[in-house]
Amino acid sequence: MLEPSADEIRDWGNSVTQFIIEYLGGLRDRPVYRQTSSREIRGGLDSKLPIKGTDFDSLLKIFRDSIVPFSRQNAHPRMFGYVQSPGTAIGAFADLLASTLNANLTIWRSAPAPVELERVTIDWIRQILGFPAEALGLFVSGGSMANLAALAAARQTKPDSLGRLRVYASTATHFSIAKAAALLGIGRENVRHIAVDARFEMRVDDLVAAIKADLEAGCTPFCVVGNAGTVDTGAVDPLGDIRDVANRFQLWLHVDGSYGAFAILAPSARKLFAGMEQADSIALDPHKWLYLPVDVGCVIYRDAEFAHAAFAHEAEYTRMFGEQADEAFVCWDYGPELSRRFRALKVWMLLKGVGLDGLGEAIEGNLACARHFEAMVQASDDFEMAAPVELSIFCFRHVPAHLRDESPKVIDAFNERLLVALQRDGSSYLSNTTLGERFALRGCVLNYRTTLRDMEILLDDLRRVAKSIPTSI
Ligand SMILES: Cc1ncc(COP(=O)(O)O)c(C=O)c1O
Repeated sequence: MLEPSADEIRDWGNSVTQFIIEYLGGLRDRPVYRQTSSREIRGGLDSKLPIKGTDFDSLLKIFRDSIVPFSRQNAHPRMFGYVQSPGTAIGAFADLLASTLNANLTIWRSAPAPVELERVTIDWIRQILGFPAEALGLFVSGGSMANLAALAAARQTKPDSLGRLRVYASTATHFSIAKAAALLGIGRENVRHIAVDARFEMRVDDLVAAIKADLEAGCTPFCVVGNAGTVDTGAVDPLGDIRDVANRFQLWLHVDGSYGAFAILAPSARKLFAGMEQADSIALDPHKWLYLPVDVGCVIYRDAEFAHAAFAHEAEYTRMFGEQADEAFVCWDYGPELSRRFRALKVWMLLKGVGLDGLGEAIEGNLACARHFEAMVQASDDFEMAAPVELSIFCFRHVPAHLRDESPKVIDAFNERLLVALQRDGSSYLSNTTLGERFALRGCVLNYRTTLRDMEILLDDLRRVAKSIPTSI
């Protein structure tokens, strides 16, 4: 088992490939989600400590029978919850190859071609974003880690500051920014949340007022975070205006593009991102809108010297001798990790295999689905939008005729129950958010399989499931 023969590897590979074909081919026939319990799942797993080994077919059978049906089917075309990529076959195969080679991307010398491939792929992303040629970056585990790395670099711009450091971000910003501030010792309380307007975009006047007030109070503003697609409504902050404010007060501009930034590949969304190319750093998530399987996030720095100041560490056991500039590249000088898997392979295979035209078309298709849903809601008399659709996120409520005169509290409680019932039903999956203190159903189209017809089925599912829900609180 530790070192299978060529025949065994072929047999394992054939069985796994057969599983993948059947799984992907049968996606639409599966429920997106199946109600289950910890006890039920444990019942299908033999949890005794395995002293003797088990053959591969039996392991695959447990995966097929006891893991797959009790997982949320993230590749399903009506999986609209959170910001969930569907994964791609090419990404799955790339992960298999990366694990087979088992490259460890710590420094160039440890994995010459994999590190070179990562640098080429990061440079493609740099070009997609319109960053200058000197910009550098790394693949990390996800958007949270990319935000953490960027804030660590930003902090180096004010290393000797005596006052309290302050970072500014809209109230709609992902919680990973506050978490990064806590982990970096800046403190959650030093993240100033700036109000948003009716489109859920940062109010730039409020940003200026907050910075001025902090300066007067003796604090040290150092960074402003702009969103290129907020997690709850998909709003893109006015990045050009925020850049102007950052210049005026000498702040680092970090853009959190974990959800939305790759939508720059879709012609109809491109103009929303004007100014993003002027950021000092950006967080992106190929495991979101490049459709790749987790985990792969990405951080890019305009001037990587600040990242170097934050992360470089010279230890005797890692010291390098006689390397030239390119070959001396040290990955851990630009991010928090030492051992890193070969994440670049799946991003490279996807970009080169599908091409930017194909990806742009797929993203455009997702945007069209969200817009189609918004148009259907606006044309209906039993649904209402809770936020404008900017990218592929849609927030809304069901207000059937018998609830039309009820209070917001009653309508919100009904929608909460509707969400639970929809998830249990399994045909479509949504998540939720709170907007202006009101409950909202929330969906995000992030799957190249999703069609306009799926958006219609979602509305039908909601109407069907709603009939079984009691109205009273
Ligand atoms: C805007 C935004 N930023 C950051 C994150 C965190 O990304 P990850 O889950 O890859 O850590 C998310 C996740 O949904 C997000 O939507």
